[in-house]
Amino acid sequence: MWGFSCAAIHATGIPDSGERRGVVPLRVCVRLVGLDDVWTVWGWLTMAELARFVFMTCQVGAEPVLKAEMARDWPGLRFAYSRPGFVTFKHSTGAEFSDEFHTHSVFARSTGVSLGKVTQGTPEERARAVWQMLADRPIADLHVFPRDKFEPGFRDYEPGLTDESRAVETLLRSAAEAPRALADRVPPPPPDPKTGPLVADVVLVEPDEWWIGCHRARRPVSAWPGGLLPLELPPTAVSRVYLKMQESLLWSGFKMLPGQTVVELGSAPGGASQALLEKGLLVVGIDPAEMDPMVLADNGFRHVRKRSKDVPRREFQRADWLTCDINLPPNYTLDTVEAIVKAPGVRLKGVIMNLKLVDWKLAESIPEYLKRVQSWGFKQVRARQLHHNRQEICVVAK
Ligand SMILES: C[S@@+](CC[C@H](N)C(=O)[O-])C[C@H]1O[C@@H](n2cnc3c(N)ncnc32)[C@H](O)[C@@H]1O
Repeated sequence: MWGFSCAAIHATGIPDSGERRGVVPLRVCVRLVGLDDVWTVWGWLTMAELARFVFMTCQVGAEPVLKAEMARDWPGLRFAYSRPGFVTFKHSTGAEFSDEFHTHSVFARSTGVSLGKVTQGTPEERARAVWQMLADRPIADLHVFPRDKFEPGFRDYEPGLTDESRAVETLLRSAAEAPRALADRVPPPPPDPKTGPLVADVVLVEPDEWWIGCHRARRPVSAWPGGLLPLELPPTAVSRVYLKMQESLLWSGFKMLPGQTVVELGSAPGGASQALLEKGLLVVGIDPAEMDPMVLADNGFRHVRKRSKDVPRREFQRADWLTCDINLPPNYTLDTVEAIVKAPGVRLKGVIMNLKLVDWKLAESIPEYLKRVQSWGFKQVRARQLHHNRQEICVVAK
């Protein structure tokens, strides 16, 4: 609903002349848009740079559900341009967006204002054109990333940065004027939610079609180029789910402390368990399937080789955290988790669960799923399609 309120502000409140600058008192804006979006309004009040379009990147195949999500939560947005994994929107009234624009979208992996594309000339000429397009914006960092080419997992395809995107980033950094002290490309620390840096985005939609934009990096995921987790799969990981769990932990922001107990529903073969064990957590893995011997050999891990409904409740009464990654449709997963969360004596600090969208149509039910999780007594419930999610979303609740 915040998105709706904010869209209304954009639709009605963007000043078209200097006289109207700052006419809406900030406290009114706070009431209308909620605390998080004050920064969008702040950009507008201070007459920061504006843009007519916003861009979003997503998993290939998720474009229709992303458009449907925007139509529901930001009714003022109209979809403008779409390629697999890359979508732009404009406002139906022609209102413009400040650089502070952001959404709490489930399916947008990265978001920002869109300033246009560069397609002409040599790569060096394109690089100069990029910086000209960014003009006087106080850019503090640079993200260069490709749109996804295929659905994740299709012929072993995994979304991520490429040699090409890294080469373009190097070129762009060397073409930046000296005063732009861009942050080094190392995994950045979590940004300050209010004053995160303004980041230039260069999305390689095609090798010679670069879409330029920018966003304020307020949260860990928006400080990663394209919202792509900046971690490699270690050679000892038993499955790619290791990265999915790492990403869930970083995105959730949960403070899971060494020595606390996590119960994992659907733990086999054990990639996620490895990520949890690395943090010094004690892991109880519940799964009727076999665990990898490497995981079984870890002293912090205990396997309960059963389906969750056959597990004695006392296993859950000792748990601090619950994760769930079972290959069942969302309502079954929610039934399974609800039975545990509501069981007498169970006091969880938080839950991380993956909901498998076995049919994209299930995306329409996400608001109901989140309401259901909230009804279990959690104050904060969020959902996101992670970089390492397949046709599924991650829901965290605490
Ligand atoms: C996607 S895999 C889990 C991957 C695992 N998290 C990892 O890191 O390797 C799904 C698992 O859910 C398990 N599963 C399905 N239904 C279950 C249930 N009711 N209780 C426990 N595990 C279940 C399956 O046996 C399967 O191993």
